[in-house]
Amino acid sequence: MKKFNTLLVLTLGACLAMSAQAQNKREYHEMVYDSGCKTCHDQGMKAFPSDDSCLQCHDMSDLAEQTKREGHYAKQNPHDSMHYGQDAPCMECHGEHTPKKAICMDCHNFDFPKFKYEHK
Ligand code: HEC
Ligand code: HEC
Ligand code: HEC
Ligand code: HEC
Repeated sequence: MKKFNTLLVLTLGACLAMSAQAQNKREYHEMVYDSGCKTCHDQGMKAFPSDDSCLQCHDMSDLAEQTKREGHYAKQNPHDSMHYGQDAPCMECHGEHTPKKAICMDCHNFDFPKFKYEHK
């Protein structure tokens, strides 16, 4: 019985943690949630999604084009940058259920006006 209770508490705890995560949705992804968590969570619910899951719907070279910068600022493009080119993993910069800032900001102070830090 004791064992059962511990299991119950653990399971309940995990479910609560999971629903707390899930409540924090990005508005721009509302339609993705309609087709289920696994649309992104291609590696199971206990792991972060892979980049491939994001790339089902987003395209790196399109993104590089969308956030293109000119002249002196060209290599500040987060999707085609001085250090990582087009190869930096999405989740180094973008959060889904949690707020997150772009990794570049650890060391630089660039202006990224289109960046959505929080749950909007
Ligand atoms: C099933 C399709 C789909 C998947 C999978 C998906 N997205 Fe999206 N995403 C969209 C759509 C649709 C929008 C809203 C239109 C747009 O801005 O491109 C969007 C918007 C975004 C935006 C914000 C655009 C803005 O307005 O600022 C970011 C950032 C983003 N997605 C990142 C990701 C990341 C990171 C992943 C993987 C964890 C991911 N997406 C997975 C479809 C998807
Ligand atoms: C648009 C893509 C997307 C969808 C849809 C999505 N997630 Fe996530 N999820 C992520 C990303 C990205 C992370 C990485 C952490 C973060 O950014 O919040 C994550 C992390 C998590 C984690 C933490 C995993 C860990 O290893 O710590 C849980 C739990 C989770 N998601 C639950 C859910 C549930 C439940 C749903 C459906 C209601 C859902 N997610 C739908 C993208 C998504
Ligand atoms: C761990 C710290 C660190 C991170 C993270 C980082 N950089 Fe840098 N970056 C540096 C250092 C140090 C230099 C200067 C060395 C050099 O010029 O080679 C630099 C130089 C640059 C330069 C040229 C100088 C300038 O300020 O214009 C650009 C552009 C740049 N980084 C873009 C980025 C972008 C975009 C990201 C995110 C994708 C990023 N960096 C992430 C440390 C970092
Ligand atoms: C090195 C950090 C970094 C990585 C890696 C990254 N992004 Fe971004 N992303 C940003 C920043 C910063 C912006 C806002 C740029 C601006 O304001 O000019 C952005 C903007 C976006 C937008 C909105 C574009 C628009 O025109 O509004 C989408 C969608 C997006 N990213 C999706 C992705 C996906 C999907 C991946 C992975 C394939 C990814 N990003 C990888 C930092 C990053």
